[in-house]
Amino acid sequence: MASARPIAPAQGGSFNLEGYLTERRELVEVSLKEMLARQTIPVARLAEAIRYSLLAGGKRLRPILTLAACDAVGGDREAVLPLACAVEMVHTYSMIHDDLPCMDDDDLRRGRPTNHKVFGEAIATLAGDALLTDAFFVLAESAAYKIPPETVLATVADLAEAAGSGGMVGGQAMDILGEGQKAELVVLERLHRLKTGALFRLAVVGGARLGGASASQLAAFDEYARAFGLAFQIADDLLDVEGSSAEIGKRTGKDQSRGKATYPRLLGVPRSRQTALALARQARDALAAFDARAEPLRALATYAVERKR
Ligand code: IPE
Ligand code: IPE
Ligand code: MG
Ligand code: MG
Ligand code: MG
Repeated sequence: MASARPIAPAQGGSFNLEGYLTERRELVEVSLKEMLARQTIPVARLAEAIRYSLLAGGKRLRPILTLAACDAVGGDREAVLPLACAVEMVHTYSMIHDDLPCMDDDDLRRGRPTNHKVFGEAIATLAGDALLTDAFFVLAESAAYKIPPETVLATVADLAEAAGSGGMVGGQAMDILGEGQKAELVVLERLHRLKTGALFRLAVVGGARLGGASASQLAAFDEYARAFGLAFQIADDLLDVEGSSAEIGKRTGKDQSRGKATYPRLLGVPRSRQTALALARQARDALAAFDARAEPLRALATYAVERKR
């Protein structure tokens, strides 16, 4: 894994989120590239398809949250890099599959043609399968960083739960089967918490746990992450309505044309925005007891709902 470079400690008020994001994104990019370099993939086209989506320049928010949660409890950043990479790999797989013709049928992602548009549906599906499976291998490597095996095992189980049928995949199924249906708010909230929130929760709580957080600290991170994940998906719904395709790197107006269950569709834009802002506040409040080392997490909660991409 990449060597951890010193990053200036966060100071309340003067915290420079943009600089922080750039620096952290770079750290994640280096780690992902190192991880890819260690892989032996027998088929060049599959390797290309994996690299194409994984190195396409996403925001890297989930791995950045993993690192930030570890930092907030003074943990060893090097030791959480495998989890950070694993989370980004699962996220990238989910987007490749989400874009397939049998799912959301999208042709633009991270400012480029979607994976299946370039490599075909079969290789895109396999690239997703590979990223999901290899993520667990990468996470298992955390054991090399003197993390107690039972902590690594608990994190493996949590990642499987967050990504699997009771988490992200379950939420994706609700999303697909809900197309054209009128969803109740409670159902929509559950859908969003599962398809998007579950992985954010794992990213934060997993990073904190590998960083050595206590049980009461983990409860605070959990509250933060639950509010963050829902806020993030409401903001994603809003960007589909109001965002610029050039800025977000994907098509806009797709949710409406597919009859997706979204917050703007159910509550309208102003109430959706209010809900997202209130959730971001709730996320920040959950970390009130933490010192300046949690400042990046607090700033990231605001960013999750104010972002333009
Ligand atoms: C998009 O996630 C998919 C959702 C779960 C809403 P991001 O907005 O984090 O996408 P990237 O990683 O920056 O491309
Ligand atoms: C995607 O939600 C959630 C997952 C990939 C798990 P969306 O379908 O709204 O994501 P975008 O808008 O295509 O990025
Ligand atoms: Mg979708
Ligand atoms: Mg989609
Ligand atoms: Mg969306």
